[in-house]
Order: sequence, then structure tokens, then C-alpha cells
Amino acid sequence: MMAKPAVAVLGIFVADLAFKAKRLPVMGETILGDGFKDGPGGKGSNQVVAAARAGADARMITRIGRDTFGAMAQKTWAAHGVNTSAVILDDSLPTGAAFIFVSTETGNNAIIVESGAAASLSPADVAAAEPVIADAKVFITQFEQPIETAMAGLRLARKHGAITILNPAPAVPVDDTIFPLCDYVTPNETEAASLTGLPVETEAQALAAARALIAKGAKNAVITLGEKGALLHGEAGTLMVPAFPVAKVVDTTGAGDAFNGGFALALAEGQSPADAVRFGCALAGLSVQKPGTAPAMPTRAEIDALLAKR
Ligand code: RIB
Repeated sequence: MMAKPAVAVLGIFVADLAFKAKRLPVMGETILGDGFKDGPGGKGSNQVVAAARAGADARMITRIGRDTFGAMAQKTWAAHGVNTSAVILDDSLPTGAAFIFVSTETGNNAIIVESGAAASLSPADVAAAEPVIADAKVFITQFEQPIETAMAGLRLARKHGAITILNPAPAVPVDDTIFPLCDYVTPNETEAASLTGLPVETEAQALAAARALIAKGAKNAVITLGEKGALLHGEAGTLMVPAFPVAKVVDTTGAGDAFNGGFALALAEGQSPADAVRFGCALAGLSVQKPGTAPAMPTRAEIDALLAKR
């Protein structure tokens, strides 16, 4: 049997506490909810689960606490065969949590995330994770842990020849010195607008933002555009990949993570950038049809069946 391609993910795990309601309460108001569910989340962990379910030798680099939410993390990774040799158990800090509002009307979400122990992930922690990064085909990180830690990870992955992906989520102010470390930068519309200062609502605007990110030093940009799909721009040219049709959107939370985990695995398999974007779009389209984040990540059989239909 061929070895699975290795994908190293630097990021956070948090427990997602998801509330369904018709709308968000205003300040000082209490409203009745339409449902609640807790489950595994955190962009890095969601991406590692997405990559693992799609077929990667997926490796997680993070910090969690020795508590109930930390146990949820370990159970989740064990269930999906994620390599946890670079997961540090923090003796003094708790595992983080996210408040997630999911609209019963649209399935769209709004999130407050507290990174907990992972907020103290350091460049030294990344250096200690060198064994899981060194032979990875792809390295991916986000911005839920400190940016200097993300940069240390990108640098180390570059040193070892991995393809580097920065999923710059959530949108935070960032120094442009990070972009030359990225083979791919994968913001959504809001993040692309925040990174470039440009409006990103149309395909043409997304292309202008992608060009701006490449001018800052990234080799390629993939702007994810929700139900419109994703725009790839870079070394291989420009391509708009339409989203897969979805009969009923249940919950969009984690769709970006599904895309990024799938995109990372596809590049690790040696798929072309265009095919990798299509593969990521398939994961995103499947994930929004189920509630939750990590629990909504599709299997490889589901992904292949959807791709075969197009
Ligand atoms: O991208 C979705 C994720 O963002 C959620 O799982 C939540 O934990 C936040 O990190």
C-alpha cells in the first residue's frame, strides 16, 4: 500500500459551543435559542481532521490543556488517526472554546473564539515540532495562534521543502514579511479585503486582491468566495472554480476549514493547483450540508463521488 501523503497543520483546537437562533441578541437582551450542540472545533484542528478524512497522514501541532475540552481534542484526533506527537499538554492553561451563533434562517454563522492554551504556542514549540514538519509534503497554518508562531512554522516548512499554505483566518493586521513565506495564501472575501485594503465582493475584485497578495510576495492566491466558489491566481494562471451546488445549507461553520484541509491534502497528493482547488470546493460543499465543524468533514468516498458527478 502507498504511504499516505503527510500534511502538517499548525493551529488550535477549541470546543465549539454552537447555538442556533433566528438572530443574535442585542446588548442587554436574552432570547430563546432553537438548538445547542457542543463539539470539536478550532480552524487548525478542523483542517487536520478534514485532511485526515480525505486521506492524509495528518499531523497536528498545537497546545491544549489537561481538561475536559482537551480530552475532547484527543478523542477527536484518535478517531481520525491524526498524529499527535507534536501536541503539547499544557499544565497550567485551559483548552480554548468558541461561541458560535448559527442562523436558523440561513445556516450562516458568527463566532467568538478564545484560543486558550494555544494562544501561548511559541516559535520554540514549532522548533520542537521539526520532526513532524521535516518530511511533510504540505504545511498549513492560520492566525488563531500568534502570528510570529505561524511565521516560524512557515519558515521551517520552507527550509524542509514543504509546500506552504497560509490560511489567514481570522482577519488580523499582519506584517507583509509573511507573504514571501507562502506558496499559497487562502483568504475568504473578508480576510482578502482586510489584507489588501481592497473591496472583495465580485470575481473581478477577488482577482485584484489576489494580484495584490502576489505583489506582496505570495506565490499563489486562492480567494474563497462562499457559494460562488474559489478563485485561483498565480504561477499557473487564473481560474474561477464554481462551488458545487448544495440543495440545503445546514451550517456554513467550518466550510473554509473543509476547503483548506482538502486543498492541502490534494496538493500533498501531487494534484495540480486547479484540481486541488476543485477538491477543496468539494469538501466545502459537502461540509455545509451537516451541522458542526470537524464532525461535518466528508469521507474520501463522499468527496470522490461528488467530483465524479461534475
Ligand atoms: O472556522 C470555524 C472555526 O473557527 C470554528 O470551529 C471555531 O472554533 C473557530 O475557530
